[in-house]
Amino acid sequence: MLDQLKVIIAKHLNNRVMETYNVASSLVVETPKDKEKGDVAIPSFALSKLLHKSPMELAPVIKGFLEELDYFERIEIVGPYVNAFYSRKKLIKIILDNFDNVDNKNSGTICIDYSSPNIAKNFSIGHLRSTILGEAIGNIYEKLGYKVVRIDHLGDFGTQFGKLIYAYLNWGDEETVKKDPINELVKLYVRFHKEAEANPSLDDKAREIFNKLEEGDEYYQKLWNEFKSASLEEFKRIYNILGVHFDEYSSEANASRHAKRVLSMLEEKSLLEIDDGATIVRIGDDMPPAIVRRTDGATLYITRDLEEVHRRYETYHFDQMLYVVGNEQKLYFNQLRRVLEKMDAPFASGIKHVNFGLILTGGKKMSTRSGNAVKLIDVLDESIKLALSHIDEKNPNLEDKEEIAKAVGVSAIIFNDLKNYRENDYEFNLEDATKFEGQTGPYIQYTSVRIGSILSQSSFDKNNISYDLLSQDHFFDIIKKLDCFYQEIEKCANEYAPNYLAKYLLQLSSLFNSFYTREKCLVSDIIERNTKLYLISLIKSRLDEGMKLLGMRIVDKM
Ligand code: ARG
Repeated sequence: MLDQLKVIIAKHLNNRVMETYNVASSLVVETPKDKEKGDVAIPSFALSKLLHKSPMELAPVIKGFLEELDYFERIEIVGPYVNAFYSRKKLIKIILDNFDNVDNKNSGTICIDYSSPNIAKNFSIGHLRSTILGEAIGNIYEKLGYKVVRIDHLGDFGTQFGKLIYAYLNWGDEETVKKDPINELVKLYVRFHKEAEANPSLDDKAREIFNKLEEGDEYYQKLWNEFKSASLEEFKRIYNILGVHFDEYSSEANASRHAKRVLSMLEEKSLLEIDDGATIVRIGDDMPPAIVRRTDGATLYITRDLEEVHRRYETYHFDQMLYVVGNEQKLYFNQLRRVLEKMDAPFASGIKHVNFGLILTGGKKMSTRSGNAVKLIDVLDESIKLALSHIDEKNPNLEDKEEIAKAVGVSAIIFNDLKNYRENDYEFNLEDATKFEGQTGPYIQYTSVRIGSILSQSSFDKNNISYDLLSQDHFFDIIKKLDCFYQEIEKCANEYAPNYLAKYLLQLSSLFNSFYTREKCLVSDIIERNTKLYLISLIKSRLDEGMKLLGMRIVDKM
């Protein structure tokens, strides 16, 4: 609201200049760095140039215009500046009256491609960031009024499936695979690579199987479908734990089947060239060309994405297509966008790679002791266990503590990720992330629980409160913080970066916690109690809303 207020003030000033001098001015309302200089300041130089009058002469005129607004307690002229101090009580009233005034009249469709794991592989910690970021960005855009389409683009295509089928048919056992599909398939895949090292002809066999699979061989298709549904089942189990949901599961294999269409579009635009047998699109001197068809006719990752993005545009008419994928695919998404520009695709400018950094342990890409990718499910289990041990320390007699530990442990991982700016790598420390104090998710959940427990002890009347009390510094600081909520959310949306909201929740929590060490809320004076309970209920509503947007769980005890 404070931000909108500055816009309202500027508008008023410019209208009054127009009425008085009949010129269109663009006076700006600044926020002085130094609080002593006022809440807002209006420099008069620009107007002085425009009207050929001295700033000394104009400052009193601006002051007069400001006085008409009735927002200010004090207005001072300091040289060419007009500095004004809000009347806190009026401001508080404006802020409280507009508490839920979010600009949610945005229209437009945002497609988000996130998570997008590869089938027949474990859901790794690497796909975690994409999943958590994509989900939060989706929630934030929805809050602002956009239509959001959540797409999980499954990596279900590639010669590796030829290898997998070969391995399964030669060394696999139906029953064992049925019991623990992903782990067994991963084992078979690893075995294939070992055996192929000694016997390279296996690669040709796998390739043959893959080609038949692509041509629609029924038996291979059936196996592939079984691998795929087993994987999907496992992924959905993880999404369920994380509280993540998708509108659509798309498929690389499906895109590959329709890739002829996009290849002929490229052909029509005369963008295709043959280079050493392969078909390429040249996209400028600053980037390597995009290979869109291999010598043997097979499609590539980019061919499938080119086809798929056209399908998505035809289906959803998106305004933006966000790809939440790691930094290592930066060049790739630049190429994708460049090819679409070359094709004059009407949606090319809406293509956005929402890139992100690595999760590290000890400064290196996170991996198990044996150097393998870490399984997300193990990390989730570990986090829930740690959350339970923290609960046991603080509140051993808590009812349903297993359930609460789940909500806390999972939210801890989500928050620990989202508090970092997405493009940066971050060190993963589960022990710290699950603590109830520090920059953690549980700290925010715990603050919300504390407020909830105070509120459960007494009701309050929000229409019978003291504005004098709210004007005191440590109350007013909280009100100002409550007020920037939507501003932070817009910043998150503009930069596709939920860390601003995460930081905001930390700051608001610590404002509450220091307030609460100073002030007793359940006092006998009714107006004072109403005022304090109302204020803390507003804090809780911001914290809960913020946690929901980040994809965290809200608990009522812990
Ligand atoms: N499956 C890919 C990977 O794990 C990510 C796919 C991202 N989405 C896309 N449309 N390219 O690297």
